[in-house]
Amino acid sequence: MLEIVSLTKTFGKLRAVDNFSMEVEKGEVKALIGPNGAGKTTVVNLVTGVLSPDGGRIRLDNHCLLKLPPHKRIKTGISRTYQIPRPYPNLTVLENVLVSSYFGAGLKGEEAISNAIESLKFVGIYNLAEKRAKELNSEQQKLLDFARALSVKPKYIMIDEIGAGLGISEQEEIASKIRELGRKGYGVIYIGHLMKMVKAVSDTVVVMNEGKKLFEGTYEEAVNNEEVIKIYLGERYAKS
Ligand SMILES: Nc1ncnc2c1ncn2[C@@H]1O[C@H](COP(=O)(O)OP(=O)(O)OP(=O)(O)O)[C@@H](O)[C@H]1O
Ligand SMILES: [Mg+2]
Repeated sequence: MLEIVSLTKTFGKLRAVDNFSMEVEKGEVKALIGPNGAGKTTVVNLVTGVLSPDGGRIRLDNHCLLKLPPHKRIKTGISRTYQIPRPYPNLTVLENVLVSSYFGAGLKGEEAISNAIESLKFVGIYNLAEKRAKELNSEQQKLLDFARALSVKPKYIMIDEIGAGLGISEQEEIASKIRELGRKGYGVIYIGHLMKMVKAVSDTVVVMNEGKKLFEGTYEEAVNNEEVIKIYLGERYAKS
């Protein structure tokens, strides 16, 4: 289980993450949603070790993550995608994924290559393997970022805003991949603003606001919760 317990992070006077707790089990897909600036990406940065918290704990299958530097956290089985993908622009798609395969998953030779290819096939961009990353469009860059996150062979993956800016059919395709990850036994935290995708992927929805957990429950419960509607969803989601 990935456990985030009473996590707090301040930037000056701003409590970006405020006594926030959530957990995700293997095989479970949880959505983490909330208004812009709620603290969602900051949670991801705290889990991966890009940022250090002011308080709280993060445990992954009984490892205390906070004692570990980012590269060692990856080895315990945690991975993430980026809200704004940042591939190595001059490397090919395959080379980009190989970097994660070598240095994230710790694989060598043929094993590293077949793992990289498997990730590209899973996200559906194996046909672009020989293209340079800088030649990809924004959707393809998001898929490459997804493949890179998978090729470190994580047990838990945090997917930050992968659907934004994509067309409806691409969103549906990515949603089905995310569901498949859950079925394959990954623990998934899916962050996004697109409620269609949230509905399609998640077993449970966590709503964050001003750094705090506002709500946790099923999608149906979330979209019918008065506070969630007021703070985030707006009346259009309210059911009479
Ligand atoms: N490195 C930083 N330094 C200072 N403030 C930061 C930093 N990172 C995030 N913040 C602030 O912390 C708050 C939470 O930001 P965060 O990026 O976690 O929100 P979010 O929920 O991911 O929002 P969005 O839905 O827009 O992606 C915001 O007010 C943001 O401006
Ligand atoms: Mg964010």
